[in-house]
Formats: sequence, C-alpha cells, structure tokens
Amino acid sequence: MKVSSISAYPVLDSRGMWTVEVSLMLQNGVRAAASAPQGKSTGAAEMRALPAAAAVKSVANIVAPRIVHKDFRNQAELDEFLVRLDGTKNRARIGANTMLAVSIAFLRAMARTKKAALWKHVRDEYGLWVDPTAKALRPRLFMNVVNGGLHAENGLHFQEYMIIPKSRTFAESVEVGAKIYHALGSALAKAKGRGAANLGDEGGFAPAFRNDLEPFLMIRAAARKMKLEKKIDLGLDAAATDIKGMSRRQLKNFYKKLIKGFKPLYIEDPFGENDFKSFAAMRAEYLGNGMGAGAPGVRSALWIAGDDLTTTNTDRMAVAQAKGSVNAVIVKPNQIGTVTEALNAVRMARAYRWAVVVSHRSGETNDDFIADFAYGVAADGLKLGAPARGERIAKYNRLLQIEREAAE
Ligand code: PGA
Ligand code: ZN
Repeated sequence: MKVSSISAYPVLDSRGMWTVEVSLMLQNGVRAAASAPQGKSTGAAEMRALPAAAAVKSVANIVAPRIVHKDFRNQAELDEFLVRLDGTKNRARIGANTMLAVSIAFLRAMARTKKAALWKHVRDEYGLWVDPTAKALRPRLFMNVVNGGLHAENGLHFQEYMIIPKSRTFAESVEVGAKIYHALGSALAKAKGRGAANLGDEGGFAPAFRNDLEPFLMIRAAARKMKLEKKIDLGLDAAATDIKGMSRRQLKNFYKKLIKGFKPLYIEDPFGENDFKSFAAMRAEYLGNGMGAGAPGVRSALWIAGDDLTTTNTDRMAVAQAKGSVNAVIVKPNQIGTVTEALNAVRMARAYRWAVVVSHRSGETNDDFIADFAYGVAADGLKLGAPARGERIAKYNRLLQIEREAAE
C-alpha cells in the first residue's frame, strides 16, 4: 500500500503542552490521523521525543519526502523503514513521538481499508491473541485514583495508587472503579476539607496525606463502604527513580508494610531505573528464588513490574529476565517509537511468561489507540488513570465500545 500524502501539526496534550499529530492518506483515498502522548516521569532509557515544532518539521523535511509514493506491504515494513530512516540509537533525528504518530496513523488507515476495527487489525496482523478460551477479562483495568510523585503537588512519595477490578467485563470494571472513585472523593472531602478532591495529572485525587500508606487505607475504606472490597485488587506505581528523600532501605521497609497490610497485586518500579538488582532481590524475597519461581506473572500473587526499568525496550527486557528482576512489564508504545516494536516487546514478555500491562502516559490527547492496542494484544492489564478527565474517559469509552463490537 502506498502513502499518497502525510502532514504533521502541533496539538495540545492534557497538561496544555504541545505534542505532535500526524495525518496521512493512502493511495486508495483512506485517511487517518494519530497523536503522540507524552510522559513526565520518563525513563532515562526511553527513546527521545522531539519538541512538537521539531517533530512537525521532521515529518515535512525527513519523513514525507521518503515515504510518500513508497510501497509498504504491511505495518512491519513501514516501521522498519522509519527506524532505518532515523538511523540513530535513541531516535533523536526523527523523534520517537513523530515515528509513533506516523506508525499509528498508518495502522489506522490500513484497518479502515480492511473495514476492520483497529483492535481486530492489530490481532490479525500479529496473531497475538493468546488463549481465546480464557474466561478472565483481558485486559484488567488499572485505575489510578490517587496521584502523587511528579503527577501532583501533595508531597506523596509514590506516584500512582491504583484499584484493579476483578470483574469479567469492561462495563462492570468501569462501574466498580467509578463507584469507589466517587466514594473516595466524598471521604477525602469530608476528612480533609476544601480542595481535597482536586485532581492530579491522571485524574486521581491529590490532597495532602499524613503518610504514604494513608491513600490505601482510604481506598480500602471507600471500597468497603460500597461493599466492593472483594471486587478489586490494589496496585502501586512507585516510579521510584523520581522519589527524593527515601533510601533503598526505606523503600524496602515501605513495601514490606504495604504487602503485609494490603496484599497488593501489583507494584511497578519499586526501585531506581537501573537497579535491576534490587528488583531481583524483591522478586526473590516475595516470589521465591530461581527463574521459574513465581512465574508466570499473570497467575502470581504479586506482579513486580518494570516501566522506567525496561522502557518497552527488548534489550533492557532481556537484562531484566537474565537477572530475574520482574514478572510483569509495562508496555508504552511511545517509549520505543513504533507499533511493531511495541508488539515485539509484548511477544518477548509472553515468551518470558511475564504479565503484560499496556499503559497510557500522564500527558495524553483524546487519541484512543491504546485501548485497541491493549485489547488487540490481549494484554493482562491496561493502565488508564482515573475515570475522570476527557483524555482518560476517551479510552474508557472506547473500551466499552470495543466490548460491544467484540460481542457482535
Ligand atoms: P509518565 O508516568 O507518563 O509521566 O511517565 C506514567 C508512569 O510512570 O507509569
Ligand atoms: Zn510507571
């Protein structure tokens, strides 16, 4: 399939920062657009994003002259071409954000050409739909209801306090999550007064707390009040690279208390982004020694996930596997730059028998690609923030629509 035209322009993300959107037309007249999300607590090993203005220029000056009128048989061919065209180790020439917007726009246009839903196109193209008879919902929803760290100004050391519904459908998961979210908002307003229900970057509440465990206490109380305590698991994204003023030892003690008191299903980035060793020690402590122990991640009682540690990069994932650091992994397409590479990360995680958690970024547009991607690869989890703020709601509503499409 040939691309007949492509253009890029700046659009705003959910923090009011510029990001890049790409619009593309295939030779058959089908058009599609896609925009790139942007992180704030980004991993140092992530591929480079260009400032929006530079990304726009890179499409006009580098990408368009080379891909317009060129024939691409499939997504992998386009994505490999983009990687070669960039030619750098960290995507600093074209920008990982630029590449991703081009990659997704092409994927969308090809799905439209086939008249297939985007998730179906992802599934067909890559054959990653494992275990079609599985009764459990894929992906489970990771709803971030309290924001701290770099995503809020409340002094919480940890970045994301999540509820993970156990429900079998997206509709019921969203309902459970939203009910607890609302009950938590009321409880916070009552306990902490004015401004307590103000929202952080991902739509979670962001008041000042007495300590780093209080959010889980209040989440649990809200779930109990709604009689939904048994319908959820708890999760934490520590984003430990960005934590100031806590030593490794203090972090370890915190996780000990957290695991004892709250039995979370999920802990992401418990230590710094290059500290493969401390991750491995934690995995060994809670999941037993030896490579197979505790795995597969999905069936484990505790998912220890890499995000800044692994950055959707198969080289770093291989290191994490060799060292026994994790049994789960975050997949963020914009950390690496193309849809094909994000799919390769999913494939590798499956081979390692890690749980796969696809994720949005803290800076999002209303682009809902990530919902189709997560469903199409049958990810084990999908992190989408709180059921609040338009850019998060766009993804939740798309999932509900996917559920209806899949039932047809
Ligand atoms: P970011 O945060 O999008 O700001 O990097 C999300 C995360 O750490 O999971
Ligand atoms: Zn993270």
